Amino acid sequence: MANGILKGKKGIIFGALNDKSIAWQAALKAHAEGADFVLTNAPIAMRMGEIKNLAATCNNAQIIPCDVSKEDEMQNLITKSMEILGGKIDFVLHSVGMSLNIRKGKSYTELDYKFMHDTLDISAISFHRLMKTLYNSDAMQNEGSILALTYIAAQRVFPDYSEMADAKSLLESITRSFGYHFGKRNKVRVNTISQSPTVTTAGSGVKGFGTFVDYAEALSPLGNANAEECADYIVSMFSDYTKKVTMQNLFHDGGFSFTGFSEDVFNVGK
Ligand code: NAI
Repeated sequence: MANGILKGKKGIIFGALNDKSIAWQAALKAHAEGADFVLTNAPIAMRMGEIKNLAATCNNAQIIPCDVSKEDEMQNLITKSMEILGGKIDFVLHSVGMSLNIRKGKSYTELDYKFMHDTLDISAISFHRLMKTLYNSDAMQNEGSILALTYIAAQRVFPDYSEMADAKSLLESITRSFGYHFGKRNKVRVNTISQSPTVTTAGSGVKGFGTFVDYAEALSPLGNANAEECADYIVSMFSDYTKKVTMQNLFHDGGFSFTGFSEDVFNVGK
């Protein structure tokens, strides 16, 4: 269903680890819609090599490694991306998340604060770091679009989502705060998409993830949104059809966030 809605646009896409990744699907859609972009991920993730297959499919997109917690790597990414793409950037997707405490099996009541600092840094503060670098490098095209991905645990308690809930709250707050400044100066819009639980490497790391997915599927009138559907929403947010949407947390969850009850929930796990 490609319509060329990103024709001539240049972007940066963070976080394509494998073909399950939301960012991977977003890259495929952005390419189909006519965009040129740079792909990036943490150097350690790149060693797994799969991103090269994606790059080859997307008009031989260039890949630039960047650990989002490192300011110098972020600056290098932005500078090189502008060189490669031949000018300012129209869109950026931050599709990055990692919880060290979840990975190390530490429960919310027993958080290790060193791990927590790293979680908040990688999953939330990195979005500020990214925007600060873009802003100070005057790298964004006027009326460009910047997006990050979030989860409804920022608003409601999902106990096993643990410290990632705190990280997502911070991410959503940074979105509003930086969205103001970028809007004022460059008419750049900054938003988060709050996505349904989706079977990916990051998602599957959360304890009881399968039950999460089934529960959300049963409660949502439209059912869960998958990664490909999320990618459709992402490209619409990068297009010129959404120029006045900014500082928002946009639920892309089949109606989950506003549904109080559904009988289907009783059949989960039966
Ligand atoms: P994924 O595991 O495919 O993507 C996460 C990415 O973050 C990976 O590519 C990983 O290499 C990257 N990353 C981790 N640490 C990094 C660092 N220091 N520097 C640079 N990159 C780093 O999983 P998914 O699900 O596609 O995650 C993308 C985003 O979507 C995340 O923000 C996640 O929290 C969010 N999200 C995911 C949901 C799900 O159920 N899968 C639901 C709602 C939001």
